[in-house]
Amino acid sequence: MRKTSAVLLPLLAGLSLIAVSAPARETAAKVPVLTVKADQVTAQVSPTLYGLMTEEINFSYEGGLYGELIRNRTFKSDHGDPSAQWWTAVGGATLTPDTAVALNDRLKTSLRIDAAAATRAAPAGIANGGYWGIALRPHTAYHASVYVKAAPGFKGALTLALQEADGKVVATAGIPHLSGNWKKYDAVLTTGAIAASKDNVFTLTTTAPGTLWVQQVSLFPPTYNHTKNGNRPDLMRMLADMKPQFLRLPGGNYLEGDTIAERFEWKDTLGDTAQRPGHPSPWKYWSTDGLGLYEFLKWCEDLHMEPVLAVYAGYSLHQDRVKAGDDLKPYVQDALEEIEYVTGDAKTTRWGAQRAKDGHPAPFPLHYVEIGNEDWFDKENTYDARFAQFYDAIRSAYPRLQLISTISPDQPEARHVHSRTPDLVDEHLYPSSEGEMEARAHEFDNIPRSSGPRTGPKIFVGEWATRVGAPTPNMAGALGDAAWMTGMERNSDLVVLESYAPLLTNVSHATNGRDPTTSMQWPSDLIGYDAITSYGSPSYYAQQMFSTHHGDVVLAVSAADVPNWTWQPPVRTRNGVAEPREPAQPVPSLFFDATKDSKTGRIYLKLVNRNPAPQPVTIALSGVTSVAPTGTAVVMKADSADDTNSITDPKHIAPVEEKVGGLSTKFTRDLPPLSITVLELETK
Ligand code: AHR
Repeated sequence: MRKTSAVLLPLLAGLSLIAVSAPARETAAKVPVLTVKADQVTAQVSPTLYGLMTEEINFSYEGGLYGELIRNRTFKSDHGDPSAQWWTAVGGATLTPDTAVALNDRLKTSLRIDAAAATRAAPAGIANGGYWGIALRPHTAYHASVYVKAAPGFKGALTLALQEADGKVVATAGIPHLSGNWKKYDAVLTTGAIAASKDNVFTLTTTAPGTLWVQQVSLFPPTYNHTKNGNRPDLMRMLADMKPQFLRLPGGNYLEGDTIAERFEWKDTLGDTAQRPGHPSPWKYWSTDGLGLYEFLKWCEDLHMEPVLAVYAGYSLHQDRVKAGDDLKPYVQDALEEIEYVTGDAKTTRWGAQRAKDGHPAPFPLHYVEIGNEDWFDKENTYDARFAQFYDAIRSAYPRLQLISTISPDQPEARHVHSRTPDLVDEHLYPSSEGEMEARAHEFDNIPRSSGPRTGPKIFVGEWATRVGAPTPNMAGALGDAAWMTGMERNSDLVVLESYAPLLTNVSHATNGRDPTTSMQWPSDLIGYDAITSYGSPSYYAQQMFSTHHGDVVLAVSAADVPNWTWQPPVRTRNGVAEPREPAQPVPSLFFDATKDSKTGRIYLKLVNRNPAPQPVTIALSGVTSVAPTGTAVVMKADSADDTNSITDPKHIAPVEEKVGGLSTKFTRDLPPLSITVLELETK
């Protein structure tokens, strides 16, 4: 049975590692032989295997994927308190967060600007430097909008401007007449022949002395597919290149919040962004909810993936919980309405009609609903009762939906679950060494399919990563990931969904802390970026190699003389006390799996050599008439396991495709040191 509970949960519960032994290599005398049995299908490859998981962490959305360039556009950045943080005064203006002059009952704090000293020669107002910079590109139109209310007697005009780091203004737009009532103003600022750069600021100034209030100050660059209120194109393209089949949304801890009041309240994330109150993320910074439920669904549609909808299940991170029974009923109802928002008919259902009003009359596809997130952290073990209540209500209203539990039946915390059998269980693992990931790469192989706890639920590995390297994983992390992925793909009759986590991090100030001054709260993350540039980690490319190169069936592979190395599990501590050291164990240094496209006969053989030395492998194919003499190899390798990618060296490690000759039903190939290979063989 899986060791998830034994290995993973203590780690998540706060264990720390105090020693890691260096791996000792044992020399393999013989060349390993892998026999791919092309006529022995062991499983179907789940068509939904490869997907994405994100949440508002590491400035993933605001300061990341979400197109908004202005930081703290609603003056709440300081974790909920009204705040002018991230705004600076220009020309001696005085800035005051003001709750007496509210835009509406959702955005209750405006920024009062007293520009008493403003003159034509010395305009006064506010400036914003975005999320560690504002990216500007040549010949590009930026859409600005702002709500403004002028004090009685104010006769000035406003100028919106984009300024480079040296103060040079590169685009402006004017708002000539202001109203004494709140009014939204839109403007387009277009750059000329400038050099692309990120250290720019947005300013809003007046040349006339007086007082005004502003709210929802917004600046959008061109977005992916030119969607209004949409996403950053380079990041969307990187995600599209992974060909993901689903998006688990909206979290993670972000679903739960620290307290019930701070959960992801989907209804508050809909409609006009100026009517969204926003909320604090458990990762300790404010979310405007500009990227709300509707935007999540559009994001799915844009990338041709389905949502895996996680509904709030009455538990929040600070052990704040709702009692099953009457107290929980409104939350269950909320989940039913959320499902209706995603899938309901636009004419006959209330929430389907709301979705149509928001811009999407057609229902979105939905097959999976996850009830909560990581409910094993609930120290009172109330999940079973809460899960059962959600399960019964959703199953009755939506019998075709697959329902996911957040506790696996083989975790100790599962002792009181499940009085209802979930369709899937979501398992999370975050080992902090590639050795541990590699040691676990075969753990799905021996799970009984026809008896035992696994006869019911399939597995969703909804969060996992080899956490080696920061802010983004290095090649060691990618090798651990690839070893683990061979196990998931080989067993994808059981593991039907997988998503690496976290997906995104802003690396501008990646000091790894839980406060809004650091751009990263959780290392290691698949994709890194600053305000203008993005890059994929070696783990990103490993994911992409797997998700874009596979067939529809898994083939049996027998192996002889696979080399091992010796992994010494680290000493772990629980509450500061060292636990007994687990014995050293042999771990393979070669990992593999094979899938076949049953229509074309193409075989995809994945090979991972985690050793820092070349590894010859003999590959034999049985059950085929012939193998074409040429094929393709996609290879990613590194000189050192520490090698990695970064903003300044984004493709230091990346896959390279090459033609391969000399193929037949038996051939030998040298795998490079520290490498991941996908061999594509054309067979008949
Ligand atoms: O991925 C980071 C966090 O890890 C998620 O929010 C949570 O579900 C898990 O503990």
